Amino acid sequence: MVNDAMDIETAEKNLKQLDHAEQHYFNRQVWKKKKKLCVFFVGGIFANTQPTAITIMEMLKDEVRTRSYMNAIVQNKHIFKDKVVLDVGCGTGILSMFAAKAGAKHVIGVDMSTIIFKAREIVEVNGLSDKITLIQGKMEEITLPFPQVDIIISEWMGYFLLYESMLDTVLYARDKYLVKDGLIFPDKASIYVAGIEDGDYKDEKIGFWDNVYGFNYSPLKETALSEPLVDTVEMKAVVTDPSLVLTLDLYKCTVEDLAFSCPFDLVARRDDFIHALVAWFDIDFTACHKTVRFSTGPHTKYTHWKQTVFYLKDMLTVQQGEKIECSLHNRPNEKNRRDLDIKIEYRLETEDPTRKAEGTCLYKMC
Ligand SMILES: C[S@@+](CC[C@H](N)C(=O)[O-])C[C@H]1O[C@@H](n2cnc3c(N)ncnc32)[C@H](O)[C@@H]1O
Repeated sequence: MVNDAMDIETAEKNLKQLDHAEQHYFNRQVWKKKKKLCVFFVGGIFANTQPTAITIMEMLKDEVRTRSYMNAIVQNKHIFKDKVVLDVGCGTGILSMFAAKAGAKHVIGVDMSTIIFKAREIVEVNGLSDKITLIQGKMEEITLPFPQVDIIISEWMGYFLLYESMLDTVLYARDKYLVKDGLIFPDKASIYVAGIEDGDYKDEKIGFWDNVYGFNYSPLKETALSEPLVDTVEMKAVVTDPSLVLTLDLYKCTVEDLAFSCPFDLVARRDDFIHALVAWFDIDFTACHKTVRFSTGPHTKYTHWKQTVFYLKDMLTVQQGEKIECSLHNRPNEKNRRDLDIKIEYRLETEDPTRKAEGTCLYKMC
């Protein structure tokens, strides 16, 4: 414990030295995934370098997320048996412990947060200290006790898959440590987009700025439009078929693939209005005996990632079967690579000139 207290001090000092973008990411990566910052670990020794217990609980309680990892790992003992496993961004060590339970020869968990000192205690009280080594530090800066690992496990996904995601860190670990023909859990991620009817909410969130106590606040309306909203979307709001805009194969993709442009069509399922596009992602663990898969879409169970809504400037009026030609361009922000600059273009071509619409919207996730 005395050693850990000294380690915590050093870790906190190092974290303060991270450049601004990294600190920003670090302070928000887990915290963003919760509603309120209110409960702190007793003693306050972790200052602002560690997520709160309530944040951690929300992530662990996200059954779709945590159970999918558990099923993918624990139900595939034949894959994990006697393997060296690396858990990138191990947090409290939950995935590391799944891997140890699945028979891994040794698991190395890495996390730059001081949460790792709690993880060490958790691993110890669960009798797994001889199977799991936890290293505090940035994945990109530490050296592993093994030159190579057989399997990488990581929960790296952010909102809209890529916002504040640590996929680049996983790819770094893959290129540096994964043995040839090694496995990655999960190994496939896909982003989908659909059109939604969301008039009431758009009025509340965007229309609000038209009249603020009798004043025209339209300059802030543009800002509001440029900020994608992370929220749950009901399935009944979805007006079009979904379209796939990105698939990442984690064995092959590179950081360059995180900037992408994709043209896609949205076909209306019914006559309705479209106020926004909704995006979500699916995750696959294809290395499993039977692929484990989960979705964060409106059609399925709640996850803490919810969905991401991009309001359009126009309201589109569509008839069943009509097609909206769209394109989505995403790139990491130049100043903070974990923020995103997104552009969506749309064009509704109809024979009815009153319903034709075309536009370009710019969004920032920061
Ligand atoms: C979403 S949490 C996942 C925690 C845990 N694996 C779980 O499933 O509950 C991601 C973790 O990655 C850590 N992290 C992010 N970037 C990192 C990096 N470059 N090096 C080490 N850890 C990092 C964060 O501190 C955070 O604890």
